[in-house]
Amino acid sequence: MYGTNLVIMNTDLVEYYKARAAEYEKIYQKPERQVELAMASKLLAELFAGQDILEIACGTGYWTERIAQTARSIMATDINEAVLAIAMQKEFPKDNVQFAVADIYSFKGIEQYQGVFGGFILSHIEYQQTLNFINNVNRFVKPGGTVVLMDNIYVGGSSLPIAETDEEGNTYQLRTLENGTLHRVLKNFQDEGFLRDMLTDSAGNVEYFDLKYYWVLKYTVA
Ligand SMILES: C[S@@+](CC[C@H](N)C(=O)[O-])C[C@H]1O[C@@H](n2cnc3c(N)ncnc32)[C@H](O)[C@@H]1O
Repeated sequence: MYGTNLVIMNTDLVEYYKARAAEYEKIYQKPERQVELAMASKLLAELFAGQDILEIACGTGYWTERIAQTARSIMATDINEAVLAIAMQKEFPKDNVQFAVADIYSFKGIEQYQGVFGGFILSHIEYQQTLNFINNVNRFVKPGGTVVLMDNIYVGGSSLPIAETDEEGNTYQLRTLENGTLHRVLKNFQDEGFLRDMLTDSAGNVEYFDLKYYWVLKYTVA
């Protein structure tokens, strides 16, 4: 008799990051990416120096920790309590970070900040939802304030292969966590032209920092 191994695949992004929380920061240990991670850390610390920042989708606080070194304050938010619990255990010597559970699409009591940072969240937004996402993010910024987004560039041999592409061009990866669970994860790799198009009506002073593994996008909101 042969048994059948039924593997159940999760397709819910929030559930995926909840399940991945404890192992999430291993992604930042890839040796070939250390130079660029250090460059990005320096860039973000410089861009947000002295400012009051909202961080969306902060996850386990990898970037929060770095930005907090120079920012005046950070309100670090994520939809998942599991990742925030890890972020809260980090040390913030300037005591300038607050954490809150928040869904980027249903922020309550909208406050506006000098700067907004979102790391590795845009790649999880469908192409057809990008404009909506950007307009939503821009609501959290004071006039003249800055938005910085950062995300991955697809690099063969380093990035996980794309398993599927849908009719809209959105791409998906199959990811297995250390506990054996399988997840189908939306992961788009937007290029500079697409990002600039998305900002045509709402942003000024657009700067795109093109690294090998990552891009960093900075713009101001009128
Ligand atoms: C790829 S992780 C990025 C974490 C962190 N910014 C970093 O760069 O290390 C994506 C994060 O987005 C969060 N997330 C997904 N959907 C969200 C939503 N609607 N509102 C807020 N956070 C969300 C997940 O919980 C997860 O922590």
